[in-house]
Amino acid sequence: MGLFSQKSSGPSEEQILQALATVQEPELGGDLVSRKMIKNLVVHDGNVRFAVELTTPACPLKDQIQHACEEAIEHIAGVPRDRVTIEFTAQVRPRGGIPDKAAIPGVSHVIAVSAGKGGVGKSTIAVNLAVALGMDGARVGLLDADVYGPSVPLMMGVRARQPEAVSGPDGEPRMLPIEAFGIKMISIGFLVDDRQPVIWRGPMVSQLLRQFLYQVLWAPLDYLIIDMPPGTGDIALTLAQSLQNVGLTGAVTVTTPQQVATADVLKSMEMFKKVNVPLLGIIENMSYFIAPDTGKRYDIFGSGGAARLAGQLGVPLLGQVPIGVSVCEGGDRGLPAVMSDTPDAYADIFREIARKLAARVSVMEYA
Ligand SMILES: Nc1ncnc2c1ncn2[C@@H]1O[C@H](COP(=O)(O)OP(=O)(O)O)[C@@H](O)[C@H]1O
Ligand SMILES: [Mg+2]
Repeated sequence: MGLFSQKSSGPSEEQILQALATVQEPELGGDLVSRKMIKNLVVHDGNVRFAVELTTPACPLKDQIQHACEEAIEHIAGVPRDRVTIEFTAQVRPRGGIPDKAAIPGVSHVIAVSAGKGGVGKSTIAVNLAVALGMDGARVGLLDADVYGPSVPLMMGVRARQPEAVSGPDGEPRMLPIEAFGIKMISIGFLVDDRQPVIWRGPMVSQLLRQFLYQVLWAPLDYLIIDMPPGTGDIALTLAQSLQNVGLTGAVTVTTPQQVATADVLKSMEMFKKVNVPLLGIIENMSYFIAPDTGKRYDIFGSGGAARLAGQLGVPLLGQVPIGVSVCEGGDRGLPAVMSDTPDAYADIFREIARKLAARVSVMEYA
């Protein structure tokens, strides 16, 4: 062997790729190499470095993938894990199949958060999901379309203020979203005076929603979360219909254990089904109570209802959020519970649900 040829002791790039080709993408199927998820592979002096490009920064399976890569490289290419450096990056691929006219420029996914009834925690969930996705590095927007009770500004700690009007790329007037915790948002609450209640009709809300979707400078966003008006009446139905044309990625339904057995929940889900909006999953809020002093769990309202419903409908139960003072206080104080550093489990619970949702969105695209 010549003096300057590659040292036989170190692995080759091919060997590393062969090893990584045995690692399956746990959600999407296929291996990391043929899915083109391995980027910037550098093999030098027996050290291996590369990036894994995920389909969402909020990937619930990072650790699992990292572990599987290290194991395969050690087994197949003989490189010990302390010589392997893996970086994770993400490229959220936009939902396909939307006519150019309907797509919101620079927004990859629009996700509606709905509920059969008010007061179940729809806004709380929407806000915490948005912030949780942002904490993982996703670019997130939050659109408050709940005309009955626009609570996003309060929950995000933003006092009502008028979004600034600017001129868009095409010279048309646009609105600048307001930012808090790294999340871009717009709310009906910013535009109407709550001392003068407006009597909303379906078509009016639908028109306002279109403005919020198309005339706000959202881009670039990975996820735009919409806090929908609750219920199954005129407004909710008109909105679901108008969202059909937007190329919604899907809808999430929030329910409580008491609500889950009622017709409202099923109706709300059927409403989306009717207009061909896929259901991404169910979230059960106020599921149970953990006594702060003893840590004991109380299933006050019984258990298993949301899981049964999810099973019946063939959609995932994305998670269960317990009742807790910090969630309620967080909402009132304008500090979402997922960000609070109180030692309860809410941050973990919301982040796990957000990751499950993001994973589901990734899978929807490739299914
Ligand atoms: N898991 C929870 N634990 C305690 N309080 C909650 C929880 N979820 C929501 N809340 C409180 O319940 C009330 C209704 O929640 P909200 O998100 O405004 O419901 P919706 O948007 O469905 O009307 C709010 O005061 C909120 O802080
Ligand atoms: Mg609300």
